[in-house]
Amino acid sequence: MRLPEVAGRRLARLATDAVVRRPALWRVFRPLLRAQFDGLAPVWDRIVSPGHLDALLAALEGVAPPRRALDLGTGTGAAAVAVAERFPEAEMIGIDLSPAMVEVATAKLTDELRGRVRFRVGDAAALPVEDGSCELVTLANMIPFPDELARVLAPGGTLVVAFSRGAETPIYVASERLRDDLAERGFADFAEFFAGPGTALRARRS
Ligand SMILES: C[S@@+](CC[C@H](N)C(=O)[O-])C[C@H]1O[C@@H](n2cnc3c(N)ncnc32)[C@H](O)[C@@H]1O
Repeated sequence: MRLPEVAGRRLARLATDAVVRRPALWRVFRPLLRAQFDGLAPVWDRIVSPGHLDALLAALEGVAPPRRALDLGTGTGAAAVAVAERFPEAEMIGIDLSPAMVEVATAKLTDELRGRVRFRVGDAAALPVEDGSCELVTLANMIPFPDELARVLAPGGTLVVAFSRGAETPIYVASERLRDDLAERGFADFAEFFAGPGTALRARRS
């Protein structure tokens, strides 16, 4: 692994651990991660491993079709497109902090998906989305902000938080920590999914 790659992974891990413990620290890490992922946008699709969304897709089995779904930290949009294909009636919004990622994701949209999938720049810590307006929210390899997840999910809605390489993923939050943070905010019915090295936690907003 090259030095900038090692440094990038360390930054992602440091930011995740710090922000999960103290969400107020996000404003310190925000510009750093934004610059990091802007730089990675042109190569992101080449560096993700095949099957990197398998655990997330496994967690979607049996989930009721949403009217509106949100993919946070969408990057180049792979999870957003996968969710949209799984639920052909759903309106899908992919949100990412990095304008360069959003640009790549938008350029990849097929004519078929363009009518109901859109990507926009935004921060998962302060989402430009109305309260209780989404029946499904997904995060793949992304720092969760539990207060915002609880705010935007409709009662009974589903949350899936996935990490492509489990605890080896640079942006990773242990399932016990996630469960505690989410349970405090009214989430329930937790279930874990595993696919290759990937893990996913599914929860319902009660
Ligand atoms: C590790 S990448 C994952 C991309 C994609 N979900 C995937 O698995 O291929 C993390 C992405 O989350 C974005 N991100 C990080 N913090 C964010 C935040 N607070 N709000 C929105 N996007 C964020 C980054 O810009 C980056 O594109």
